[in-house]
Amino acid sequence: MAHRVLVFALCVAMGPGLGACAGSGAGLDSNGRPTGSEGGGGALTADFQSIQDNVFTPICSVCHAGGAAPQGLRLDAVNSYSMIVGVPSTEDPSVLRIKPGNPDNSYLVQKIEGHASVGAQMPFGGPPLPAATINVIRQWVTDGALQASAIAPATGLAIVAAAPATGEVVLESPPRVIVTFNRELDRSQLGPSLVQIERVVADGGGMRLEIPVDVAVPTGNPFALLIAPRVRLGDGRYRVVVSGSAGLHLTDIAGNRLGAEGERISLTEFTVEANP
Ligand code: HEC
Repeated sequence: MAHRVLVFALCVAMGPGLGACAGSGAGLDSNGRPTGSEGGGGALTADFQSIQDNVFTPICSVCHAGGAAPQGLRLDAVNSYSMIVGVPSTEDPSVLRIKPGNPDNSYLVQKIEGHASVGAQMPFGGPPLPAATINVIRQWVTDGALQASAIAPATGLAIVAAAPATGEVVLESPPRVIVTFNRELDRSQLGPSLVQIERVVADGGGMRLEIPVDVAVPTGNPFALLIAPRVRLGDGRYRVVVSGSAGLHLTDIAGNRLGAEGERISLTEFTVEANP
């Protein structure tokens, strides 16, 4: 119940015309059924862009967006792919949110079908998605959970998005920071000292408190870098940096490097405020 009230308050705060509030989702009627071609995303088909436009954006991102997204799961258009494909769920970390090729063992599918091991059926508090919609999502996973529309080609390696994003305040210690790039990353370059999370100490005179992390590029999504702190992040400000040194650099598979030799590059800088 509390969540429904929150959603309602959010919709009022955002005002009409944004089309992001429950029940007004483009491409779906009030029961979450595809309405054909009149919505922004067109009819629902088994490709990522269509699922994003018809389901994740209008229905799920009402709650699953920003620093207060439930379980740190953001399903807005910028972040969703990197948040789900090959990434462990928060509620049951032994199950990936989306396991390419395997809908039965994909936590997100279990959640919309209502038989996940933890918590409620999604969308939370609302009518379940119609079976036809769930089947389309299952089909996309079975087909390999591809991100059909490749991100626009660019010359160098660049950051597309980060969650938490720079300047954002999150209400709990994120299980992992997810940074999305425009090109496929080279897994062989991932060394233990390549990426760090450091606590930003006010008046620290340049002092850096490093948090131990595990860094990975998930199976199924070579565009994403997952940086998991090994300890809970207490309240405070954090910066995630790449420091290319000692022959290790963050590079894409074509050898394009992020930043110059010895340069420290901030991927994102955010604040944890679990106890405001
Ligand atoms: C009204 C708010 C709301 C909406 C809308 C909503 N969710 Fe959720 N979601 C939650 C809350 C709250 C939780 C945590 C509690 C729970 O699991 O019951 C959650 C948890 C989840 C989780 C577990 C994440 C993890 O890593 O453990 C998944 C997956 C999920 N939601 C998917 C979806 C999808 C897909 C949609 C759209 C079809 C959706 N949700 C719509 C509120 C919402």
